[in-house]
Amino acid sequence: MDAKEAEKIEIDLLLEAIYRRYGYDFRGYARSSLMRRLHHIRQKAGAGRIADLIPRVLQDEEFLRRFLLDMSVTVTEMFRDPEFFYELRTKVIPVLKTYPFVKIWHAGCATGEEVYSMAILLQEEGFYDRVQIYGTDMNAESLVTAQEGIYPQENIRKFTANYLKSGGRASFSDYYHAKYGMAKMNEGLKKNIVFTQHNLVTDESFGQMHLILCRNVLIYFDRNLQDKVLGLFGRSLGHRGFLCLGSKESLDFADNGDQFEPLVPKWRIFRKQLPEL
Ligand SMILES: C[S@@+](CC[C@H](N)C(=O)[O-])C[C@H]1O[C@@H](n2cnc3c(N)ncnc32)[C@H](O)[C@@H]1O
Repeated sequence: MDAKEAEKIEIDLLLEAIYRRYGYDFRGYARSSLMRRLHHIRQKAGAGRIADLIPRVLQDEEFLRRFLLDMSVTVTEMFRDPEFFYELRTKVIPVLKTYPFVKIWHAGCATGEEVYSMAILLQEEGFYDRVQIYGTDMNAESLVTAQEGIYPQENIRKFTANYLKSGGRASFSDYYHAKYGMAKMNEGLKKNIVFTQHNLVTDESFGQMHLILCRNVLIYFDRNLQDKVLGLFGRSLGHRGFLCLGSKESLDFADNGDQFEPLVPKWRIFRKQLPEL
């Protein structure tokens, strides 16, 4: 057996150990990016082999905490892909606005920037009061940042540019207070947001949504897992609900993909199909 094959077994055993001990299930994550991250973790831990990480994760909860942080890529930004937010504002929001009450789920929201972007957009569209937003992620630490809504001020220039490109109607500076090199989002934006932990691989649907955003998350999953999560989204969306994925995420090969029809193909905005008669 060559070294590569042996390492594959070591990775399988490590992922199995984490799943059985803690319930975090990385077994269906796409292998190439998973391996990059595992090698980084191995190096940081000063371990010679991936298998050396097994006793560490099993016995050392602090090691597991850092391991989970390194396993999730939490990069995000306000109004990420401004053109996408423009399409959302002009094609999806006008439909949702006609409903008496709207539920929105940001799955894999990381540190929450997209969620605050949504709250700003809805406020500007004049119907934030009738919306409940859920921001979820498997990573509890990123959710703490999301709940605080405090971001480094050096990111504000980018956020402001994105906001303007996305069709923002006011000044981005209306939505935060700058202090000590940080920007704190206005408390009012949090009014209808709940941030809570949810794992897309192991947890079930938690209600009927009108809009689900899960951008730049499925890229880390293999095809089987992507399909499973799309099934979850199908079950979590109400009649003619909207699903938004990241620009690199396609439904082309997914068995569960045909329950969604493209609305804005370039920006991966879909709508749940009418049920077959
Ligand atoms: C690159 S970020 C995307 C953030 C945001 N949606 C965006 O597009 O800017 C990916 C997020 O997916 C989360 N994630 C990865 N696997 C997950 C899972 N099984 N369940 C829930 N969240 C997961 C990670 O913790 C990370 O915060």
